[in-house]
Amino acid sequence: MATIMTPSHVEAGAQALPQPLPQAGGERLQRRMARGAAFLGSEVAIMAGAMSWVSERNLVSAMSNAGGFGVIACGAMTPELLDAEIAATKALTTKPFGVNLITMHPALFDLIAVCAKHKVGHVVLAGGLPPKGSLEAIKESGARVICFAPTLALAKKLIRSGVDALVIEGMEAGGHIGPVSTSVLAQEMLPEIAELVPVFVAGGIGRGEAIAGYLDMGAAGVQLGTRFVCATESIAHANFKRAFIRASARDAIASVQIDPRLPVIPVRALKNAAGELFGAKQREVALLLDGGKVEMLEAQLQIEHYWAGALRRAVIDGDVEHGSVMAGQSVGMVTKEEPIAEIIAALIAEAASALEKRAA
Ligand SMILES: Cc1cc2nc3c(=O)[nH]c(=O)nc-3n(C[C@H](O)[C@H](O)[C@H](O)COP(=O)(O)O)c2cc1C
Repeated sequence: MATIMTPSHVEAGAQALPQPLPQAGGERLQRRMARGAAFLGSEVAIMAGAMSWVSERNLVSAMSNAGGFGVIACGAMTPELLDAEIAATKALTTKPFGVNLITMHPALFDLIAVCAKHKVGHVVLAGGLPPKGSLEAIKESGARVICFAPTLALAKKLIRSGVDALVIEGMEAGGHIGPVSTSVLAQEMLPEIAELVPVFVAGGIGRGEAIAGYLDMGAAGVQLGTRFVCATESIAHANFKRAFIRASARDAIASVQIDPRLPVIPVRALKNAAGELFGAKQREVALLLDGGKVEMLEAQLQIEHYWAGALRRAVIDGDVEHGSVMAGQSVGMVTKEEPIAEIIAALIAEAASALEKRAA
């Protein structure tokens, strides 16, 4: 791990730091992050979680250049688009970065082949359990596999299947979420699995004190998304960033399923017209079902397709009323647009100063 936390580094140009890092706290942080940073090949064990449309070449390379670990969000990209995005990211950084693939993507194995062609060091599989053969295909390319573990039982199963690291993400997070909070997941899972593989804690982290806390509990590192959306280097539309800067924690709400027949995967996003209309849409489709005017499959598809293209509409087009402004509860701690290096420096300074108060 490089000297990001030593006083000499502070003098060498980390002008973003609010004050020189406390010596003992800095060393303690470095020690606690050593395993995660070595695993990622980064200076600090902080990942910028992949965010569709946001985590592209600019944010990812800036994150890795700042000493953290950027992850490209492949989302619904075709293999050709992913190929171009990885090449463009490589042109902007020589530091390691990862690629996040969604397990349901119909071309998953072609996307894995694209990552292999570029010798991407870390592939994150999101959106469900890895399909048969996918872990093997990634590992054959020499890359490390990181998966999301929603429960302790699944974490153990994934470790047995050979994953190299896990992310545990609580319901405070932005985007698609599970039902359990980060603090409960961390307490349930870290004591059982943190020794087996590096575990990165995600969801609701906005300041370094929380990072220090999860490291103390055994995490190898952390993953943040919401905190990085308003980085200067992020290409998110000015309206999207403005909505983040204005919002408080209670504005970031999870979508609600209204009818048991029509499944909704909860997504945490800022309250807006699209969210309200989604409730109305569910009621409308449920009434059509009751009246026998649509088949069940067609009704479920109508619900599923409601949000299609909605994140792009908000992030790229700036329509923050009718698009989806995915954001976690830590959004209240996003108060301005600032370079990613300054965000990292602030998080590190807060974590180091929290650890300064510890005994060792
Ligand atoms: C706008 C937005 C888009 C996201 N898109 C994805 C995605 O495409 N794939 C994914 O695995 N996670 C996605 N996430 C989750 C992040 O990678 C990250 O795990 C999460 O933001 C961490 O919680 P936090 O928002 O509380 O920091 C998204 C989050 C946000 C805020």
